[in-house]
Amino acid sequence: MRGIILSGGSATRLRPCTLITSKQLLPVYNRPMIYYPLNTLLKAGIKEILIIVAPERAGDYLNLLGSGKQFGAKFTYEIQDKPKGLAEAFIIGENFIDDQSVAMILGDNIFEDDFSEAIRTFDSGARIFAKEVSDPERFGVVEVDKDFKALSIEEKPVSPKSNLAVTGLYLYDHRVVSAAKQVKPSERGELEITSLHNYYLELGELQVTKVTGDWLDAGTFDSLLAANILAKEKLADKMII
Ligand code: DAU
Repeated sequence: MRGIILSGGSATRLRPCTLITSKQLLPVYNRPMIYYPLNTLLKAGIKEILIIVAPERAGDYLNLLGSGKQFGAKFTYEIQDKPKGLAEAFIIGENFIDDQSVAMILGDNIFEDDFSEAIRTFDSGARIFAKEVSDPERFGVVEVDKDFKALSIEEKPVSPKSNLAVTGLYLYDHRVVSAAKQVKPSERGELEITSLHNYYLELGELQVTKVTGDWLDAGTFDSLLAANILAKEKLADKMII
């Protein structure tokens, strides 16, 4: 399986800190933020990784992460000219994905769980990872039946059908590339990842796995503070990078 870290965007919510650098390069306790999602992929055995970045920050990522050799991995870089949505990653990454399955993780998502097993056992379709939260309206929300089978999935619903947030780690088979090309921009003008999940849901091929450990999307000042504390108290000692 190949890996993608989506690390573009303009992070307006974290200004002024993000005026001169990328959100995903800000420190989270004793490492740059992107080390945490990178660690999640490397720990799960994924060694070929595409890092998608905004044009004005590309040099910083190259300086920090380089070829990947020092991590026992191989990094490829692509530029996303404008933040046109998460699903665009699979159009940008078409050649990199080729006919392989792919795990995409968002550069600002910090997980405690080890996903080795979920990634090793992934065969085809799509697999998303859901976590119970108190504020589901901030996220993609998945509704499941008693066997944890997906019933519906919505992006930032005003009236969420469950408290299960779709976290920023996703597994897809190679069909994700053609599916992404069919996605139409949403009302906010983005190619939504939720549209891809609805594509696999309609095929009956969307699997949902529960996240049991802590998870944070470090995209606001409060969640960034919480991420620093989580990293210090639970993650720093277990990192392999
Ligand atoms: O964190 C999980 C959530 O991430 C999911 O529950 C949602 O379904 C999903 O849409 C996404 O929601 P966000 O509101 O957090 O997305 P945001 O626009 O903040 O982008 C997430 C990360 O991806 C962020 O670090 C910036 C990066 N990004 C975003 C866009 C839209 C890109 O690199 N390129 C983009 O085009």
